[in-house]
Amino acid sequence: MSSAVPKKAPKVDLDTTRDKLTRLGLVHASEHVSETLARSAKESWPPHRFLDQLLEDELVVREERRLKTALRLSGLPTGHTLGNFDFAFQPSVERNRIETLATCTWIREKESLLMQGPPGVGKTHLAIALGIRAVENGFSVAFHRLEDLLAALKRDAEVSPQRLRRRKHMNVALLIIDEVGFEPMTRQEASLFFRLVSYRYGRGSILITTNKGIQDWPEVLAGDEVLTTAILDRLLHRSHVLNISGRSYRLRELEQAAAKSSGAAAGA
Ligand SMILES: Nc1ncnc2c1ncn2[C@@H]1O[C@H](COP(=O)(O)OP(=O)(O)OP(=O)(O)O)[C@@H](O)[C@H]1O
Ligand SMILES: [Mg+2]
Repeated sequence: MSSAVPKKAPKVDLDTTRDKLTRLGLVHASEHVSETLARSAKESWPPHRFLDQLLEDELVVREERRLKTALRLSGLPTGHTLGNFDFAFQPSVERNRIETLATCTWIREKESLLMQGPPGVGKTHLAIALGIRAVENGFSVAFHRLEDLLAALKRDAEVSPQRLRRRKHMNVALLIIDEVGFEPMTRQEASLFFRLVSYRYGRGSILITTNKGIQDWPEVLAGDEVLTTAILDRLLHRSHVLNISGRSYRLRELEQAAAKSSGAAAGA
């Protein structure tokens, strides 16, 4: 009869575990394993709960890092979110519609979005906010003011199509072009813009903010009606158009100050 002496499990050194976690690339878990172990002992977690917590913390930290890097690479300015957009101030912007766009189905479907309206009504703010949502949903995004984008397109005018395809503005899931229409384009710029829109058509989404109505686009695109029709045809096929009308948020404070001072004058 063999004596049933239980085999002693080899002692596991915490440093060895840390080292294995690091070698597996689980850096956060490696740095916090002793903390999580202590918490697990204190709260009497079953082993599975401990393992799950360790992995969950690693995933949360990785997602935060991914988001930070993707936001930096996108060129999206900070500080403009859906959370700090005052929908009550701009009734022509339907909250429901923006929330639907924020689900990013249109980006998955490679559709376009055109935001039109006068100065200060929140076009850039909403474009950035939707861009942030897209990054949060895992899409690659590039944000450009038209002027900067045109400068980049001009630098690339002689670049081969193969190399051109690798440019971020060509292959991101969502390209945001802010301030279309402020300045009319030259013939060369309009033709480079056409090349961009045409390449991205069916491949990725474009979000454009503009202060010009569709009828004024030929004037923006170097007066070329044929090119304008070709660009609009691609942009507006499978697209969403938001017409924002209303007061300028920039002038709101001025209006408030004016109202205050006229109120004070009336009371005097
Ligand atoms: N409804 C709003 N709620 C909160 N902030 C707003 C709202 N609308 C605009 N703003 C703020 O007002 C400023 C101007 O808005 P924004 O830049 O989006 O205007 P715009 O429509 O792009 O104007 P422009 O045509 O001159 O570029 C920004 O700082 C923006 O954050
Ligand atoms: Mg703007």
